[in-house]
Amino acid sequence: MASQANASEKFKYRTAPSATDAFEGWLKDHGKELPVHTHPRDVSRSDIYVEDRWQPIFAEMRATEPVNKVTGTPYGDFWNVTTVKAIQHVEALPELYSSSWDKGGITIGEPPKDVTPEELQERRLPMFIAMDRPEHTGQRRTVAPAFTPAEIDYLATEVRMRTATVLDSLPYGEEFDWVEKVSIELTTGMLAILFGFPWEDRHLLTFWSDWAGDVELGLARELQDVRWEIFGEMAQYFQSLWMDRMGKPPSRDLISIMVHSAAMNQMSPQEFMGNLILLIVGGNDTTRNTMSGIVHALHTFPDQRAVFESDPSVIPNAVQECIRFQTPLAHMRRTATADADLFGHQIKAGDKLVLWYISANRDEEVFTDPDKIDLRRPNARRNLAFGYGIHRCVGARLAELQLKILMEEMHARRMRVNITGKVERVRANFVHGFRHMDVTLEKF
Ligand code: HEM
Repeated sequence: MASQANASEKFKYRTAPSATDAFEGWLKDHGKELPVHTHPRDVSRSDIYVEDRWQPIFAEMRATEPVNKVTGTPYGDFWNVTTVKAIQHVEALPELYSSSWDKGGITIGEPPKDVTPEELQERRLPMFIAMDRPEHTGQRRTVAPAFTPAEIDYLATEVRMRTATVLDSLPYGEEFDWVEKVSIELTTGMLAILFGFPWEDRHLLTFWSDWAGDVELGLARELQDVRWEIFGEMAQYFQSLWMDRMGKPPSRDLISIMVHSAAMNQMSPQEFMGNLILLIVGGNDTTRNTMSGIVHALHTFPDQRAVFESDPSVIPNAVQECIRFQTPLAHMRRTATADADLFGHQIKAGDKLVLWYISANRDEEVFTDPDKIDLRRPNARRNLAFGYGIHRCVGARLAELQLKILMEEMHARRMRVNITGKVERVRANFVHGFRHMDVTLEKF
């Protein structure tokens, strides 16, 4: 990798505490101040995800009232949208159901009440995931060429080399944390290569991505401020990379491509930064948590592990199935721009709709026996983990490539991963994944 200007030489940024440590520290002192979740269908509560007991709550909603309203939660009132059909319906109407920051944005979280509109404007970096048409169309079109099949093919060799190096460095017969040694290492390494991010600072991508994805931090006012300070540092760091590439001839890394593309040049510096951050943070903990999810799923379903081990031709479909089963982003949010009827429910302008992908991917109307993995499931591709419609994940092909190569390289090494110790999940209603997973390797 070409050496990069190290931004740390130019300004100071923090690298600790992690978002999780900060929130857990806050909980120790202020836990009693947290608002209580009382509504039985209030699936914004994060304990059900960290304890992995969300499944029956969503199953009840899908069976009895797939679209339903909950009121008086710590995140205010919102509509739960829980099935494939209902989510696709909402996402197919982006004018009626907005993603824009101005209307409420893309997560269940709300900004703190005591922040002025000016402060809010300043703190919210414009990024196309939180824009409606026509702005969304132009900005997405600008980055989409970086994810064409030809570009992805070009990356495949590098992804494979990197994956092989990480897998070959793992110890056999000795317990280690798969999340830290494989999932985090591979995702940050790939993003660093893709964007030409300074290699020695790549751990920052994990640090920032965790602070960005932790919606629950919004419940702790002081931590919201810390989060915004950290975002400021992140923006400053990316700005230094941007300046670095501006002063150099075009190269193949994505920041250089973006800096030197005519279309990107039309964006304001804020928009440029916002979209860069979206790409880097959006591709981080999603892919990471699927890499952990694959190992967890294969361990939990030994019959399917036998399928994987005996027939590597299932791998492309297995990737889809593991993405369905894990669903690394539990939800996205939309806000109604006008009154509407949604399958008989009266939605009012301004209402918040939470699209629970985690539930739709267990929709028994679409997926037979949805709480089990079936690596040969014929319609695994119908999963909604990447969303649907105009905002469907722009990085899906890259994520699929990384996951496919990981499974192929594990298979080539006849690597079986057994969970032999502590498993800790993420305490969040947005990012759905694993913090820690102790494993031991053997050969099959
Ligand atoms: C397994 C991995 C991933 C999952 C599950 C995932 C999931 C999602 C979801 C749910 C959305 C919103 C879709 C919607 O609102 O309908 C999204 C959008 C997006 N994702 Fe991903 N993502 C993954 C990997 C990546 C990667 C690797 C990148 C880039 C390097 C990326 C970049 C983006 C961007 C830029 C958007 C915004 C698209 C738009 O608004 O038009 N994602 N992703």
